[in-house]
Amino acid sequence: MPAPVLRVDRATRRFGELVAVDGASLTLEAGAVSAIVGENGAGKSTLLKLCAGVLAPSSGRVLIGDADLAPATMAEASRRGVGLVHQHFMLVGAFRAIENVVLGAEPVRSGGRLDLATATARVRELMTASGLPVPLDAITDDLTVGERQRLEILRVLYRGARVLLLDEPTAVLSPLEAEELYGTLRRLAAEGRAVAVVTHRLDEVVRFADRVTVMRRGRVVHEAELRLEGGGRRPAAGLEEELTRAIMGGDPPPPFAPPAFAEGAAVALAVAGLRLGDGAGRTLLDGVDLEVRAGEIVGVAGVEGNGQRELVRALAGLEPRAEGTVTVAGQRLDPRARDAVRARRSVLAVVHEDRHEDGLMLEASVADNLVIGDLGDPRSIAFDEAAVVARRLGRFHVDPADPARLAGELSGGNQQKLVVARALDRLLSARATGAAVLAQPTRGVDVGAAAAIHAAIGEAAAAGLGVLVVSADLAELRRLAHRLVVMRRGRIVATLPPTASEAEIGRAMLGVEAA
Ligand SMILES: Nc1ncnc2c1ncn2[C@@H]1O[C@H](COP(=O)(O)OP(=O)(O)OP(=O)(O)O)[C@@H](O)[C@H]1O
Ligand SMILES: [Mg+2]
Repeated sequence: MPAPVLRVDRATRRFGELVAVDGASLTLEAGAVSAIVGENGAGKSTLLKLCAGVLAPSSGRVLIGDADLAPATMAEASRRGVGLVHQHFMLVGAFRAIENVVLGAEPVRSGGRLDLATATARVRELMTASGLPVPLDAITDDLTVGERQRLEILRVLYRGARVLLLDEPTAVLSPLEAEELYGTLRRLAAEGRAVAVVTHRLDEVVRFADRVTVMRRGRVVHEAELRLEGGGRRPAAGLEEELTRAIMGGDPPPPFAPPAFAEGAAVALAVAGLRLGDGAGRTLLDGVDLEVRAGEIVGVAGVEGNGQRELVRALAGLEPRAEGTVTVAGQRLDPRARDAVRARRSVLAVVHEDRHEDGLMLEASVADNLVIGDLGDPRSIAFDEAAVVARRLGRFHVDPADPARLAGELSGGNQQKLVVARALDRLLSARATGAAVLAQPTRGVDVGAAAAIHAAIGEAAAAGLGVLVVSADLAELRRLAHRLVVMRRGRIVATLPPTASEAEIGRAMLGVEAA
């Protein structure tokens, strides 16, 4: 048995009355990739934060090697080789990539000046050794999510981490990128590091992790070894269901079935000739033509960074340089203008992919976040805010269902539920015609919440809305959609039935012809 590198011993962490981690124990060993799974709010992020000194335990211990992590600070944990990649990116967008890697650990020349040349050379070595390529001179905001994710890991490795903790690193990645990332993590583990990954994607756990810990309501409720003596892996059959049961504390939700869709239905959302440049000569959207009919769920597949984000933003009127036409429920919307926000809101619901950037005010209450955009609506004279908030909290099982709490204090998945609840409930309860556009709607949400969001999407379609879903998760798209379109280099390059195989969709995503 290899020696444990990090051990959490019956740790508890409270936030006021709330017990986020409740007497949890965890052992991380060199050479192993450990997965941590559990419902939204189960305490996974809090547990990692205890390991990394971001939070101190209210009781219990965190040991690195043989000694307590004391003082329980990030600086001390980092000095002793523990690095955490947070659930939400912690990068400075306006800085160059290299600057984000060295920020706070800059090599200096005599006189205290930053020695960027030395830093760059070291990071390049690290990049090659770890297989984590990132364009180091690029402005961080211009990187794809996959690149930003790799940058966060480089940042931690640069500080010499021997214990690598990653909080939902694959939530924003396509399946292919996720697989690559696990390849890297396995390599880093084989070199003698201990790796822990929090994820909601159980297929990843089954395929790549050496062991798994299930948390529920702050406690560790289940542990399983996935690597067998002699190097084999536990057979996948039944494992996902075993984990789902442990996570939910009961039966898994029934599988989603999209509501029946009548081919001849009216067009709910029409996009024609949608173009967008970045102002520096790069084409982001290259003439997108797309129709979604009332009651239809269309899935947008594609490797991240091929225009999906810009498409959603243009539909929301957030891209002043966009050209082309967008028609929702027979009403022309200007893709360049936010001025028609009101008109837009009554026919179009949009969920953006980055809930922190475009969806939430973390410093405002849950209630305020649930009704932003509804207040001041001419129709809202009789708007009963408390009732709307209660309905939206209930429909999506936001936990804790406390309207007065700050949005920033909710777990990541529960923040996601707020954004989706606000967008879908607004149209559904107004019995509006129009369309809903959802980017990564189940990013970071647990099995139960994903089922609730999928049910709401089905309900929206059944109520006659056209639904466009952008997701990095192909399995999700294939389950949800009546029809798939594939985006590549700012265009729609293929239309496929949801029964198309992942390989076939993957080929269209990459622009490779079938052999
Ligand atoms: N800073 C904080 N203040 C108050 N409560 C908090 C704070 N951070 C977390 N919590 C609460 O602690 C509990 C555990 O949260 P945590 O973020 O660890 O969950 P999680 O398992 O990571 O969930 P998710 O899968 O949604 O990311 C939740 O109820 C959350 O609302
Ligand atoms: Mg979390």
